[in-house]
Order: sequence, then C-alpha cells, then structure tokens
Amino acid sequence: MAAREQFGSRLGFILAAAGSAVGIGNMVGFPVAATKNGGGAFLILYAVFIVLICLPVMLAEMSVGRNSRKDPLNAYSTLTNGQAHWKIAGWLSIITPFMIAVFYLVITVWIFGYLYQSIIGNLDMLADPATFGNFVQSSDLFIYMVGVLAVVYLILQGGVKQGIEKAAKVMMPALFIMLTGLVIFVLTLDNAFAGVQYYLIPDFSKINASVVSAALSQAFFSLSLGMGIMITYGSYLDSKSDVPGSAKFVAFADTMVAFIAGLLILPAVFSFNPNTNTENLSDSSVGMIFTFLPKIFLALQASIGYVGASIVASLFFLLVFFAAITSLVSIFEVPVSALMESKKIGRKKALGIMGLLLIVTSVVASMSFGIWDVATNFTAYAGQTKSLFDVIIDVFYDTILPLNGLLICLFVIYRWKKENFNAELDKGAPKYEGTFFEKYVDLSVGTFIPAILFLVFINTVALKYFGEALIG
Ligand code: PHE
Repeated sequence: MAAREQFGSRLGFILAAAGSAVGIGNMVGFPVAATKNGGGAFLILYAVFIVLICLPVMLAEMSVGRNSRKDPLNAYSTLTNGQAHWKIAGWLSIITPFMIAVFYLVITVWIFGYLYQSIIGNLDMLADPATFGNFVQSSDLFIYMVGVLAVVYLILQGGVKQGIEKAAKVMMPALFIMLTGLVIFVLTLDNAFAGVQYYLIPDFSKINASVVSAALSQAFFSLSLGMGIMITYGSYLDSKSDVPGSAKFVAFADTMVAFIAGLLILPAVFSFNPNTNTENLSDSSVGMIFTFLPKIFLALQASIGYVGASIVASLFFLLVFFAAITSLVSIFEVPVSALMESKKIGRKKALGIMGLLLIVTSVVASMSFGIWDVATNFTAYAGQTKSLFDVIIDVFYDTILPLNGLLICLFVIYRWKKENFNAELDKGAPKYEGTFFEKYVDLSVGTFIPAILFLVFINTVALKYFGEALIG
C-alpha cells in the first residue's frame, strides 16, 4: 500500500491549516459580530475563548490525526479497535464536514458570481438592493458552481503536497497582501477612524449570555473545529513535527486576520455613513457581503471613479474568494480522505465519487431560495418555516459542531487516555512536556471544555427546535 501522503514542510502545514481556519467567518462574520456585541469587550472575550477553549480542542484533534495517521472515521475506529459507539463519533466527523461543505459551497458560489460581476464592470448592478434576491434564484448560479468546483477539484486532485499545500502557499500570502492593501486604503477615507473607534471601544454592558455563546461559536467555527479537518490535516504530519507550536501559530494567525478584517469593514462602513449605528448593520454575514458592501464600494466612485471603485470591489471579493476556497478544500478533503482509506481507492476516484454526491446535494440546497418550492419551504419547527439550506445550517453548523467537539474531548482523555495524548504532543515538541500549558490542556479537555460544549449543545437544541432558550 502506498505510504500516507504528507505535507512537505512545517510552513506548508501551518499555511494549509490557517487557510482552513481563515474563511468567510473571519472576513465578515467576526467584524459584524464584534461590532454588534460590545466592540473591544467582544474581542477580549473571543481571544479568551480561542486560547482557553479552542486551542486545547485543536490539539486534541491534531494529535488524534497524527497518531492514527487516518481520517476521522478510521481514526476513531483504529484507536478503539472498532468499538461500535465510537464509530458513531467517526461517522459524525465525516457527515458534518460534508454537509457544511454543501452550505459553504453555495455561499462561495455567490462570492464567485459577485467577483466575476465586479471584474466585468457590473458593480452598479451589484449595488442595487434587488440584485441579491434575484441572483440567488437565477440559473446562472449553476454556471458559477461549475467554476468553483473546478477550482476545488484542481487543487484536491494534486494531493496533499502538490495540491492543498501549494494552493495555500500561493493563496494565503496573496490574501494577506490584499487585506493589508485594502485596510491601508480604507483608513485614508473620510471618517474611517470613527469606524475604528466603533469597532474597538469596549462596551461591557452589551455582554450577556447570548453574546458569550455567540463569541464561543464564532471562535470554534473560525478555527475549523468539530469538522474533522484538524484530524485529517494532522494525519498528514510526520512524528517529528511540533504540533503544539503549529496549533498556536494557526490560532494566532486566524485571530489576527479576523481582527484586521474588522479594520477593513468598519472604516468602510463609517466612511459611507458616519452616523451608522449597530442597528443599521446587517444581521448576517450574507447580508453584509452581498447587499451592504457593494453599495459602499459603489459610493467610492465619487472619489476614485467607477473603475477605481470596481477594482476595490473586485479585490475584496477575490480576497474573500481565496479565504473561502482554502476552507472549502480543507473541509471537502475530510470525506474524500475517508473514502480513499475505507475503500482503498485512489484520490481521483474518491474525488469523483464524493464530488458527484456534493454536486447533487449542493444543487438541491442552492434551490432553497426560490428556485424549487420543496427546498424553499422544506419544513417548519419552533414556529418558523425553514428552507433546506436553513435546516443544514441549524443541524450541522449550530447543533452537531459543538457535539463533535465534545466527543473528541471525551475521547482523548477517557478512551484514548491522557498519557497517549500527551506522549503524542510531546513528540516533536519536547519543550511542551511538563509545561503549565500541558497541564491546563489535560485538565480542561477532561472537564470544563466538554461541559461547556454540552451546555452549548443542549441550549441550541432547546432554542432551535423547541423555541425555548435554557440560557441567554
Ligand atoms: N474557519 C472557516 C471560516 O471562518 C470555517 C470553515 C472552515 C468552514 C472550513 C468550512 C470549511 O469561515
């Protein structure tokens, strides 16, 4: 049997994992959430969650991957000799990324469409408030979907080193340069600093139970946890690599990008309207990207002309597109790698089979916005009509994600055992051994992190499906 594929260098692994972590959530989700929920106060809370909760979970995932050298499905069964109930955790870690890939693909397709339209000079059309509603119902979507899938396929067929790692090495530095360039540009606009102030000045009075829970979910999603990604990427590491060091770096880079994205979004919003208040900010990332921002970009034509404004818009959509592609690649690699391992088939064949499944599911899910009535009015619970797309988000993103996090924590400490977990992390990182952080990780992963994730899980179930909040 062929040896397992591996990343070519530590930097390659870090960039690929950071590429997964840096996504649409960083570019718009984080800035909007921070601004609405107490600015600097939210930032502090978020940073605390990254370090004290998410980083330990990331270590748990990466170490399971590297030790077993398997995708999550086979990792759980290898490390437990096929114990049936842990197989459920393995299956959840394959189905979740597949379904999240579906919703993430749909949004990436929209971004690709907006990127294309701003490049060909249609920014004025994108800024029209009616455009988005029509766009998500148009059959053009399927053409853009072919484009996005082709990019993902091209990257993944190259494998770990020649595909995932290479793409991350090109896209991540490009993303960082575009982001920095755009931030410098928006900071020169009138009233930009009012936006910076609004973003950063802490308002502790806004912090309540639901803000705390939103900050935790955002942090967890942003580090790509609970989706089997860090298990899979970890499985492509050799035993000499420093897992704790790399994980810290990935968490740091992800947080920095989210923070810097706020320095792009908020000044842009305030230069457009210095009297913006948080109520006017759109609630969702989707509203922000596809209706709010195009309007702001178009308004730039007064100072830099239509072509200038279109260039700014195109750069922004390209930036978000790169962020989305590296995330999409990472999440789709999980089921692909599971299929390769389980059926002992080659990468291209596994990609073909999973790709077909993804296309069918995504085409159906993308019809949730009016194209097909069955998908649009799919079901109803807790007094709300839900589209198929909504159901995918509610079930997999909101509900199962924290459950997967909970399961990996319990698995590592109580089934695989702390000694094996620590021994795995110490390999390649002798300085980690015996540190305070190591003790903290063991303690937290075995006690309060799963407890918190459990609370998030049951609260979500109560809220989403029964319309009853237990907390918040
Ligand atoms: N970390 C990504 C983000 O912030 C989330 C994600 C990763 C989603 C991988 C899908 C796949 O947007």
